Amino acid sequence: MASTAAKPVVPPKDLETFREHLRKSTRILALLGAGMSASSGLPTFRGAGGLWRTHEAMQLATPEAFDANPGLVWQFYSYRRHMALNAKPNPAHYALAELAKKKDNFLTLSQNVDGLSPRAGHPSGKLKLLHGSLYDVKCSEFFCSYFETDNYTDPIVPALAIPTDESDPTTTTALEARAKARELDISDESVALPELRIRDLPRCPTCKKGILRPGVVWFGEALPTNVMDDIDTWIAADKKIDLIMVIGTSARVFPAAGYIEEARAKGARVAIINMDRNDAGKGKLFKQDWFFEGDAAQIVPELLKGEIGELGEMMDLRDG
Ligand code: APR
Repeated sequence: MASTAAKPVVPPKDLETFREHLRKSTRILALLGAGMSASSGLPTFRGAGGLWRTHEAMQLATPEAFDANPGLVWQFYSYRRHMALNAKPNPAHYALAELAKKKDNFLTLSQNVDGLSPRAGHPSGKLKLLHGSLYDVKCSEFFCSYFETDNYTDPIVPALAIPTDESDPTTTTALEARAKARELDISDESVALPELRIRDLPRCPTCKKGILRPGVVWFGEALPTNVMDDIDTWIAADKKIDLIMVIGTSARVFPAAGYIEEARAKGARVAIINMDRNDAGKGKLFKQDWFFEGDAAQIVPELLKGEIGELGEMMDLRDG
């Protein structure tokens, strides 16, 4: 008779060797990418979901795109701010946050700008945001240093509100219609984007001249110096690193991806958690490494269970 037992999330033998190594590890890194937030409903950059309307998401994430069309780039980022605010951290975010509280020398390097790790309670001193945050904004004028953190205003200016469908025929008043209105999906090119004038975009309160821009790191831009310095100091603090977990990233963007080899050079074993075997860093997995194939939201809590126990109700209590 065929077995009805559910297939284990990770092969038991690998789970055992990984947990044993994690238990003994004192210096641990994690490198996170968009796949970490995929099961929270946020799209990744490459592959399916990487298109926003007719634009490659990566092509909108450049200073050149902002210079050419700040309105379009702001519509893209306003949409991402809105989606991420309405998403919830998933079990992988909570599991890593718990591990960070339990292990003194565990540092997480995240390429994600969605704010889900902080919202899962990840201690801020142990979380380095390599590419900034959707909720930071700064002035786009070269000579102005205005920078604001934790700006969760959604929409950041009224003109960037997600358009809604207020044409529900069962409503009788304008107020009721607005209450029942459905947000339109502006990532779909068949939905018209609202007209935007430059003067409707968020303006710098300090220099009064520049347009504000998202405080994320765009292609061609340097990573924040203080973040890189903190990471370098952590890496240099000891001659060895025991483990690096590479979670939900295609590891193609540098310098972020370079931390994998830096950790390996200090003796770290590498554990890759990814939906796609092709992103396991072809030819780069050594015999002592692990590849765990599947959804990070399922696999990460399973891998860390020996250290953090069951996530259970701690997930319901947070992010209220
Ligand atoms: N669980 C685990 N892995 C997943 C999941 C999931 N549920 N869903 C997707 N993945 C994997 C994909 O197989 C892919 O390897 O996540 C990875 C996402 O890769 P990218 O889209 O390239 O995202 P990321 O690696 O974070 O990109 C790096 O590039 O566009 C820039 O600045 C942006 O921070 C971003 C950087």
